[in-house]
Amino acid sequence: MIGSTNGGPVSITGLGTHVPERVVTNDDLSKLVDTSDEWIVTRTGIRERRFAADDEALSDIALPAARAALAQARLTPGDIDLLIVATVTADMQFPSTAAILGDLLGADDAAAYDLAAGCTGFMYGIAQAYGMVESGLSRRSLVVGADVLSKLMNFADRSTCVLFGDGAGAVVVERAPKEGFLGFELGADGAGGKDLNLPAGGSRMPPTAETIASGAHYVHMNGREVFKFATRVLVSSGEAILDQCKLSVEDVDVYVPHQANVRIIDHAVAKLGIPMEKVIVNVDRYGNTSSASIPLALADAVASGRLKQGDTVLMTGMGAGMTWGSAVMRWTAPV
Ligand code: ACO
Repeated sequence: MIGSTNGGPVSITGLGTHVPERVVTNDDLSKLVDTSDEWIVTRTGIRERRFAADDEALSDIALPAARAALAQARLTPGDIDLLIVATVTADMQFPSTAAILGDLLGADDAAAYDLAAGCTGFMYGIAQAYGMVESGLSRRSLVVGADVLSKLMNFADRSTCVLFGDGAGAVVVERAPKEGFLGFELGADGAGGKDLNLPAGGSRMPPTAETIASGAHYVHMNGREVFKFATRVLVSSGEAILDQCKLSVEDVDVYVPHQANVRIIDHAVAKLGIPMEKVIVNVDRYGNTSSASIPLALADAVASGRLKQGDTVLMTGMGAGMTWGSAVMRWTAPV
């Protein structure tokens, strides 16, 4: 049930993540498609990724992340009144994975829904939770960014199957004693939808034997166009949000870009003028985990001591839609 609240900054007070146990290396994939560790590392920076087990669905990997975020915020599931799961790989078409997760967690009566914004899902999710808490519609929101794209990959298509991995991240968004979120910048360009999509299984192309035979139920991508879009929006959205918050690149302590490809990150970092020591990169270990990418990188930044309380963090996600989203915040969760 959504309640009401007033006053004080809104921030992240708990962060939790989870990745499946199974590690898949580039050499493992080279047994399935005509590729090599050398090609994948040179073109993407990815060395390995995690794949969910055959019997693991999205809610199974989201649950431990959600529990960890609640524990860090010192909350119980019953304290949550809003649960958003940002994903493109829900357990099923409906009910929402958020509702399934709410039941597994014991977040009784919390409003629950899924949010589809491709790899930008987590950024849209925290912006939405911020708005709900700020307006008084929610007291404490749990935002999960999670995807199991290994379930939707065509393991005969070397241009997509080497890029993605599975993972989950969750944050609690609520009023906090100290300043947290400073601003958001979100956008979408639907004309780019043709460059990254999963055509079959929806109302436009319901599943049939033909859609299965043609592989239309797998992820399809025009890598070069996505690359161009990603490098462009990482820079334009990052610059826009800093401008909006009246901050300069020098004010940023930690930069967390979407982890799709190390070459995309390198390009954006050079254009934005952010020193590499401020940039979080973990795409080498996880690949592109879509909605989990930014929370997994935040957790790595905390674990390595590079993200401390009070630090100014710039995060930018981009993905299918095409969509993008940036946030600037001062970090307030325990480290
Ligand atoms: N192994 C070996 N060769 C490969 C592989 C592979 N895994 N994949 C493609 N190739 C080949 C191609 O077939 C092509 O061969 P050809 O010249 O004989 O036709 C050659 O490599 C070059 O292909 P390009 O597509 O030009 O390679 P590029 O350097 O652009 O790298 C890549 C491809 C890595 C996909 C790049 O375009 C990219 O990273 N794009 C962005 C992808 C991405 O981040 N997607 C997710 C975005 S966010 C979301 O919401 C999901």
